Amino acid sequence: MEDLKEMLIKPEFPRSASYDPDWQLSNQMGPNALWLCEWLCEAMELKPGMRVLDLGCGKAMTSIFLAREFGVRVWAADLWMSQDNNWKRVKEAGAQDSVCPLRMEAHALPFASGFFDAVISIDAYHYFGTDEHYIDYIGQFVREGGQFGVVVPGLAREFENGIVPAHLAEPQSNGKAFWEPACRSFKTAGFWNALWKGSASVQDVKVDLQPDGWRLWMEFERAIEKSGKGIFPSDAEAIEKDAGQYIAFIRATARRSALSEMNLYDPTLGLQCGAE
Ligand SMILES: C[S@@+](CC[C@H](N)C(=O)[O-])C[C@H]1O[C@@H](n2cnc3c(N)ncnc32)[C@H](O)[C@@H]1O
Repeated sequence: MEDLKEMLIKPEFPRSASYDPDWQLSNQMGPNALWLCEWLCEAMELKPGMRVLDLGCGKAMTSIFLAREFGVRVWAADLWMSQDNNWKRVKEAGAQDSVCPLRMEAHALPFASGFFDAVISIDAYHYFGTDEHYIDYIGQFVREGGQFGVVVPGLAREFENGIVPAHLAEPQSNGKAFWEPACRSFKTAGFWNALWKGSASVQDVKVDLQPDGWRLWMEFERAIEKSGKGIFPSDAEAIEKDAGQYIAFIRATARRSALSEMNLYDPTLGLQCGAE
């Protein structure tokens, strides 16, 4: 356990370093959510009491982290993970007064317009946010001037001729290939920048790559391997071979503008358009 603890302590993430390694490894869903969240928060201004949506929160580790580290109130929303298990984890972490777990689908959120001071999403937004209309949809739940902060796995640059390189496409020695069909939602920083800048709902868009993000991902995969707590076979070998040529973490932040685009996921739109 001491070895694992050392593997999870990174000088660039002092807040994450104080969380139990076993807790981080038992609740991981791939990359280290706390490291990604801590990096995201460097680019955001979270203040005590703010209402924050943690969208695609998985096992609610980042929701607990946000509540503890910044004193914010968190609505922890996820599709695959049950609210009951997340509530158990929230209570065990003593965060029951500030984290509310919910099972919900990202296109069918029940919140009031302008309810949140911030929406964050760690390693999840690429599952639903690549659609041009999504930022306008999620934007409606954030107050004017409120914040958006997303970290997604993505590409440091486009593949040459659109072809996935062999070291990502071919099976590693454990038999698993890194690149699966779902990875086609791994996009470049340029893609996210253009997607958000194209929306009138947000302003002050900033997008960047995590320095040495591939190395952090690889090192966390090695820690998972060592702990035996992997849900899937490790991707460490492919990430190490890639060495940041393509695989990266991308951070996007923005502020809610005064303008609103139409909610194209509103099921009553048909009626508003006179349909029967
Ligand atoms: C790779 S996991 C990351 C979870 C967590 N943020 C973390 O970093 O540990 C991606 C999460 O996105 C959530 N997700 C995917 N599609 C979703 C959708 N349409 N609506 C809500 N959540 C979704 C899944 O339920 C899953 O828990």
